[in-house]
Amino acid sequence: MQTIEKKSSKKAWAEALAQPAQEFPSTQLQILSGKIPEGLRGTLYRNGPARLERGGIRMGHWFDGDGAILAVHFTDAGATGVYRYVQTDGYKEEAAAGQLLYGNYGMTAPGPIWNKWLKPIKNVANTSVLALPDKLLALWEGGKPYALDLQTLETWGEDDLSGLTNLLPYSAHSKRDQETGEIFNFGMTPGLNATLNIYKSDSTGRILQKAAHELEGVPVVHDFVFAGQYLVFCIPPVRLNLFPTLIGLSDFGHSLEWQPSKGTQILVVDRHTLEVVSRTEAEPWYQWHFANGYVDVSGSVVVDIIRYPDFQTNQYLREVATGETHTAAVSTLWRMHLDPSTGKVKAIEEIMDRHCEFPIVPLQDQGQSCRQTYLTVHRQGVDTRKEIFGAIARFDHKSETLTIADCGENRYPSEPIYASDSQNPQQGWIITVVYDGNSDSSEVWVFDADTLDEEPVCKLALPSVIPHSFHGTWKPA
Ligand SMILES: [Fe+2]
Repeated sequence: MQTIEKKSSKKAWAEALAQPAQEFPSTQLQILSGKIPEGLRGTLYRNGPARLERGGIRMGHWFDGDGAILAVHFTDAGATGVYRYVQTDGYKEEAAAGQLLYGNYGMTAPGPIWNKWLKPIKNVANTSVLALPDKLLALWEGGKPYALDLQTLETWGEDDLSGLTNLLPYSAHSKRDQETGEIFNFGMTPGLNATLNIYKSDSTGRILQKAAHELEGVPVVHDFVFAGQYLVFCIPPVRLNLFPTLIGLSDFGHSLEWQPSKGTQILVVDRHTLEVVSRTEAEPWYQWHFANGYVDVSGSVVVDIIRYPDFQTNQYLREVATGETHTAAVSTLWRMHLDPSTGKVKAIEEIMDRHCEFPIVPLQDQGQSCRQTYLTVHRQGVDTRKEIFGAIARFDHKSETLTIADCGENRYPSEPIYASDSQNPQQGWIITVVYDGNSDSSEVWVFDADTLDEEPVCKLALPSVIPHSFHGTWKPA
């Protein structure tokens, strides 16, 4: 009898998510090409969902995966890597049980119906990191941060930063003012109307000041803008349909409704008082991320947004967890000018029309005018419904040009992280973690930030596959 092998239609990126990622202890990393720049001294930290299955049950959304952290320490003796799961309470409990016990963003709790009413959702600590002087925080927007050892990534436990009382969550996109050392962040508390909690911390992470502002309904707020003297929140027209989630009929992700008639609510907040300066409504769009913000010479607040026309991105990201995507969700780079005293949008326009995500600016430029934005883009000519990002790029706002580092077929870079050179402040390096689907392995690539279209200055081998991750940071030595 002849058997006809059905060829999988999955793209090469899917293999990185097919199995739970394997941790590795501190390991000297082999240099595959080039050399480590002498001024690159410090640590790259990255966080992302590393386990999307347990006990034969697949999680419902990419956001549901248990977080694991990669640290790459660059020293005079070379580079070492360590990769560890964040040992959250839920992770430990599920590991001991050998099965999933909790619901999450994209799934209700498994088991009998009362589990869906009684079980809280699991803090997966999988979204980003914040490197403080004496600890690393693994961040997830629905709960408290987990503190880890900066060197070994040993999990110490939940951290309330001396201010996260009453179950206040601490979101994944904190912002740091490099001049004052102050750290800003927010956390959303659900309710009939959600509360937007805003936090200001000192440079150690200790919360010094809090404010609470009521929103309309329960929207999705993933990121915010640090723009000099202001913090700006763009609340997209997505609202949680509370009832089905409360009775356990539906998970959060499936209960979020795109309601464009609500428009995008804009809140401008004073960074000193944390009070709302202005509040207004603009046209509808959706964003996960902002690239940066600042106040220009005319006093306008300028905000760079990775903007989607709707919320289809949620469906696309759900499909990532299955290893096969088919939904179109195209985001491009937009620039908005607004009057902070009224919140009114003076202008908003697309400034780069290529599908992109994971925007960053160098840490020292957060909140200030900055000539370059780094981001991930698709390779030329790929079917963007089926692929994930295969290139990183630098957009120059002055010349309006895009310089692209195409990683090659079946290779997938992470969000580009900017690392300043310790010897030359004019020099910067871009570090990305690349999953190579051709060899089913992961590597660390270091580019000269000014010549992204040239070969990386260094490539390092990692001991095992690092699944596609969300966000990271650079901590200088
Ligand atoms: Fe994010």
